[in-house]
Amino acid sequence: MAHKAGMSPTRRQVLAGGLALGGAAALGGVPAQALGAAPGSRLEAALARVAILGLDWPETDAWAFGGRVPGQTLRVRRGEEVDVILSNALAEDTTIHWHGLRLPNAMDGVPHVTQAPVAPGETFRYRFTAPDAGTFWYHPHSRSYEQVARGLFGALVVEEETPPAVDRDLLWVLADFRMTRDGAIAEDFDNRHDLTHAGRLGNTVTINGMVPHEEGVRAGERVRLRLVNAAVARGFTLRFGDMRPAVIALDGQPVPVHAAPGGRIVLTPGQRADLILDFRGDPEDVVEVVDEHYRGQAYRLVTLRYRQEWPLRTQFAETPSLTLNPLLAEPDFDRAETYVVEMGGGMMSGMSSAIVDGQDTGLREMVMRHGLAWAINGIAMTHDHLAQPLMTLGLGRSYVLDFRNDTAFEHPMHLHGHHFRVLRVNGEKVPHAPWRDTVNVPPRGRAEVAFVADNPGDWMLHCHVLAHQHGGMMGLVRVD
Ligand code: C2O
Ligand code: CU
Repeated sequence: MAHKAGMSPTRRQVLAGGLALGGAAALGGVPAQALGAAPGSRLEAALARVAILGLDWPETDAWAFGGRVPGQTLRVRRGEEVDVILSNALAEDTTIHWHGLRLPNAMDGVPHVTQAPVAPGETFRYRFTAPDAGTFWYHPHSRSYEQVARGLFGALVVEEETPPAVDRDLLWVLADFRMTRDGAIAEDFDNRHDLTHAGRLGNTVTINGMVPHEEGVRAGERVRLRLVNAAVARGFTLRFGDMRPAVIALDGQPVPVHAAPGGRIVLTPGQRADLILDFRGDPEDVVEVVDEHYRGQAYRLVTLRYRQEWPLRTQFAETPSLTLNPLLAEPDFDRAETYVVEMGGGMMSGMSSAIVDGQDTGLREMVMRHGLAWAINGIAMTHDHLAQPLMTLGLGRSYVLDFRNDTAFEHPMHLHGHHFRVLRVNGEKVPHAPWRDTVNVPPRGRAEVAFVADNPGDWMLHCHVLAHQHGGMMGLVRVD
């Protein structure tokens, strides 16, 4: 799809190949923690040593929540309280943003906007009710292009009162790391190439924090697979051999059950998908899970191998569906006001200048002097000017955001505190108009979404390629 990835995949395959010799890494190894259910549980952001490359390789220095990458999976039931005390053992400020949660603004984790940054040695208590069942995640919103790339991210699963009947509930947190030859995380976080192109693409793709190899499955089992794209720049377009996964939710919100078009599951940074996978093969069959997001750079992400076990069943019941989360307000299309969101900048774009701190600034100077390369509606936003909103929306009113991408790169645009219905991409109707919190706007393309501005506060709207966000492609949407 889109443009070419900047880093060579050969390096990744060298690493993955090396690991393969050392034996299979077990997947699905993120234990479900009832952390969120224990009020006031601590979640520490700190340095940690983790086995990104697999258990046979030396550990890698990372930054982690609770000592692991991904951080502890938080699980609560819909309507229950998430109550987590972030304690900051890093040498710099941090916060936690709860991606996709429609929570009160003060809990949203955006430094200088919704809270003071959590300084080294300090704590902050996040406490809110999880309004929607689904698959969500959390990550810092302080210098996130570096903090997330060093390993600070984790999943938040909000369970339905009656979850669909499956044999296994499996979570894959997808991410990639840029590793040096010595197995360290490369420190080139703020470089101009990533800033002006596709962001920081890693060379080592991981599932649940480790380079994957094989995952055992059982004939006749039905699996709910929760996918989270926590990568700072990489998109994934996954195919599961010739299986036709059923999609039951996107970005945490249920969708009418449908087979993934062409069997492909697309996840740009920040996005999630919940799938039902029915394993109809026989013992010893294999399913190659392939990622073909970047043209000419398809690679095998992981192999699913049917174990030598008696099939669990030979007939599958109808695919279970999820019931819609309540409290999602339907936009009033007759009255909706439209805001155009023009996205410009980066290499190979027509944008020659943008407003930086109130001054018209040439692209070259933006890059060289300010570390900026992107703009929304002609403004390259810096954290110093973030207080001035891009738009002010009336509480309870309906809006259409019309994203127009005038750049050579795809931009997954994320709005905090709300879900929107994705109406059209490149002028074409999107089937089921799914509720999402992150919409991918294709290169030189367009996406239209609609929502009710029903959550008061100042909410970030930004590209989830985190180098783009940091490089100016962000702003505030004020709802009052
Ligand atoms: Cu997942 Cu503003 O972020
Ligand atoms: Cu972007």
